Amino acid sequence: MVNLTRVSKSYFGQVRVLDEISLELKKGDFLYVVGGSGAGKSSLLRLLATEEAATSGSLSLFGYDLNTISPTTLRSIRRLLGYVPQDVRLIPDLSVADNVALSLSLAGRRVLSTTSRSHIDELLERLGLAAKRHKPASALSGGEAQRVAVARALIRQPELIVADEPTGAQDRDFTWSLMDLFLKANLNGATVVVATHDREIVRRVRKRCAVLKAGRLAIEEALCYY
Ligand SMILES: Nc1ncnc2c1ncn2[C@@H]1O[C@H](COP(=O)(O)OP(=O)(O)OP(=O)(O)O)[C@@H](O)[C@H]1O
Ligand SMILES: [Mg+2]
Repeated sequence: MVNLTRVSKSYFGQVRVLDEISLELKKGDFLYVVGGSGAGKSSLLRLLATEEAATSGSLSLFGYDLNTISPTTLRSIRRLLGYVPQDVRLIPDLSVADNVALSLSLAGRRVLSTTSRSHIDELLERLGLAAKRHKPASALSGGEAQRVAVARALIRQPELIVADEPTGAQDRDFTWSLMDLFLKANLNGATVVVATHDREIVRRVRKRCAVLKAGRLAIEEALCYY
């Protein structure tokens, strides 16, 4: 499902932010990526989300090597991917519901069925956003915007979920509502990668864990003792 072999990343020829990372994820795996600020978590997740290319090494998703993939196959892979960027990136002038709906149309569903609309409403309701459905995304708080970004990634039932500190701006209750959604998606077969700073999450929900330190993948254990 996800295969990294000695993947490195450096920006503008500077030092390696990711240094020869090797990692394998099978379908249905759940992996935390932990490590201090600046350790390279977002850099790694951007590679997994096909937002950026590796500087060296090989990365394959769904069996396709991203170094040699055709643009058409890359588009198909992106439809199977749900990415929650750390900086959220909603479209400010679009309503909350339309930001989420747009993700479905980008996934290839051009006309939204009534069922899709009701799935969106249901998801927004669970995330405490029902009353904000028709508000522009620009009118949301940081935590609300982050929950919309998660809804946008999950609504298309992606096979690979890549979430970069998706609970970073949440209170405890919403942190667990979001974790619940990731765990349910995982139970339904999705492969999930969550970068987090939140020690309580990794302690209470035991999963495999990749620890990044200065760009090196220091340990990758059966369970995370971060
Ligand atoms: N676009 C970029 N250009 C140059 N340097 C970058 C770029 N993006 C990240 N870096 C550098 O790469 C290193 C790792 O950054 P990254 O954002 O991956 O860390 P992180 O583990 O996600 O940190 P945080 O916990 O603060 O989100 C940092 O030193 C950062 O300054
Ligand atoms: Mg980050």
